[in-house]
Amino acid sequence: MKLNRKDILGIQELSVQEIDLILETADSFIEVSTREIKKVPTLRGKTVINLFYEASTRTRTSFEIAAKRLSADTINISASTSSVVKGETLIDTAKNLEAMNPDVIVIRHSAAGAPHMLAGILRQSIINAGDGAHEHPTQALLDMMTIRAKRGRIAGLKVAIVGDIAHSRVARSNIHGLTKMGAQVCVSGPATMIPRGIEKMGVVVHMRIEEAIRDADIIMMLRIQTEREKQNIFPSLREYAQYFSLNRKNIGFARKDVLIMHPGPINRGVEISPDLADGPHSIILEQVTNGVAVRMALLYLLTGGTT
Ligand code: CP
Repeated sequence: MKLNRKDILGIQELSVQEIDLILETADSFIEVSTREIKKVPTLRGKTVINLFYEASTRTRTSFEIAAKRLSADTINISASTSSVVKGETLIDTAKNLEAMNPDVIVIRHSAAGAPHMLAGILRQSIINAGDGAHEHPTQALLDMMTIRAKRGRIAGLKVAIVGDIAHSRVARSNIHGLTKMGAQVCVSGPATMIPRGIEKMGVVVHMRIEEAIRDADIIMMLRIQTEREKQNIFPSLREYAQYFSLNRKNIGFARKDVLIMHPGPINRGVEISPDLADGPHSIILEQVTNGVAVRMALLYLLTGGTT
């Protein structure tokens, strides 16, 4: 099977069959990262550019590792060390990169829609590595891969997403993906962090974390996106933690075998208590491991790979 699209811009536009294809391909790449020599020649001669206008540890590193494990040449560009600081526009930057003939451009940008704009004007494949508060499709794919690996399915599971829903591209992409794949999704957070009308995305809203995580199979905690808030939308971190932190006391509302996820970076003691982040229910680092495989799968499929 082949992925018949040039770009990966969001989960919203992916079909269930496309998500299945990506996750199955990612499953087949997991093994490469466990080898003594972690490299296959699949993308030899291809070039991948990581163009990051926002900070990143996990996404940028795992795209670079994914490309290298497939033997592609990789170049990392940070806005802060590029000609962006001299005033070059995104389009001019992208057109200059296109002129060097890469095969895939991975972009993270604070403006929602930036990857979509590049996809419309460049001949290269574009992968959205996070655009503003809009989508973070590769995060949702690695989250779905991790859930499937741990539970064998997504359909029928209750997934509670808790925190700053309004500013979270991770929440938006996961809501699109998890509901498409048949999960029951609910969200919870301070009223100022729940977008009006979010129920139209097929989720249930709970104002209290205890209600959201009641009998949950999966709890996905979110980082507070202070960099995207235009004003203070909750009184203090202490108060936020008091009502919306996942801790030893409220975890008892969830299923006994609940799995805890977080896209990172974690604000320890704010969104989640350290003992839970590092405890037996946590699959946070497995998410990171699977992120390499998902990104290998996308680079492979977008450059014409078949399964
Ligand atoms: N999950 C995630 O996007 O992490 P980074 O910001 O470190 O890439």
